[in-house]
Amino acid sequence: MSSITIKDAQGIAGMREACRLASEVLDYITPHIKPGITTAEIDRLGAECMVSQGTVSATIGYQPPGYPPYPGHLCTSVNHVVCHGIPNDKPLKKGDIVNVDVTVITKDGWYGDNSRMYMIGECSIAAKRLSALTYEAMWLGIQQVRPGARLGDIGHAIQKFAEGHGLSVVREFCGHGIGQKFHEDPQVLHYGRPGTGQELVPGMTFTIEPMLNQGKRDIKELGQDGWTIITKDRSLSAQWEHTVLVTPTGYDVLTLSAGSPPLPPFVKATTT
Ligand code: MF3
Ligand code: CO
Ligand code: CO
Repeated sequence: MSSITIKDAQGIAGMREACRLASEVLDYITPHIKPGITTAEIDRLGAECMVSQGTVSATIGYQPPGYPPYPGHLCTSVNHVVCHGIPNDKPLKKGDIVNVDVTVITKDGWYGDNSRMYMIGECSIAAKRLSALTYEAMWLGIQQVRPGARLGDIGHAIQKFAEGHGLSVVREFCGHGIGQKFHEDPQVLHYGRPGTGQELVPGMTFTIEPMLNQGKRDIKELGQDGWTIITKDRSLSAQWEHTVLVTPTGYDVLTLSAGSPPLPPFVKATTT
C-alpha cells in the first residue's frame, strides 16, 4: 500500500522552511570546500550551521532496518563513491569531486533534503562534464513535475538525457517522498517509461536526486562501514538533489537559497 502524504498550507510552509534551511547549510559550507579540507571538517561545519539555525541533522543516528546508525551530520561522497559516504579525516585534493548531502529537521518536525557537487581545485574535463550533466539531468526531471504527470515521466527524462550522453543511471537508490519523515512514499526512480507510475497531485513533496556514473551503472557496498556505496568499476559518480513541491500549475523547488548554483539555461523559473 502506498501512503503518500499531501501537504496542506501549514505543511507546505513547514516544508518551505526546512528546505530553505537545508540549502543554507550548503551555502554555509561552500566557501570552505577547497583542497586540504577533510570531509570530517565539512561535517563539523554543517553541524555548527544546524546549531545556529535551531535545526538538527536527519542523518546522524539514522538507522533503517539492517543498517548500523549513520555516524555523520551529512554525507560526503568523493569520486567513485555513489552516495552515503561517511565523513573522515582524509584531506580532499585537487581534482577530487565531492557530493555533500544535507538533510535537516526543523523544530516543527519538517525535513528538507538536498545535495550539491563540488569540484576541488581544477578537475578533469570528464569530471566537470559528469557533474554538469548530472545537474542538467536533475533539472530536466524537475521540469516534468506538474499535476497529472506521472513519476515515469521524471525517470524517463533523466534516463534519456543521461544515457544519450553516455552516462549510466544508478538503479538501487532513488528520490523519495519527504515531509515529517525522512523517506516517505513514493519512490522516485531516475529511470522509467513516460506515462507510467504514480500520478502527481498538488501538495506532494518529494526529492529528485539522480546518481549518474561515468562507467557502468553497477554499484557495490564498500563493505566496511555498512553505508558507503561505490561504483563497481570504480568510475566517477555524481549526484545532485532538490526537494520539490507539486503545485496546482507545476512545481516549486523548495531547496533554494541565496547560494544555490545558477540554473541551467533551459530552466526559465524555479516556480511554475
Ligand atoms: N540524504 C540522503 C537522501 O538523499 C540519505 C542519506 S541517509 C544517511 O536520501 F544515513 F546515509 F545519511
Ligand atoms: Co539527500
Ligand atoms: Co534524498
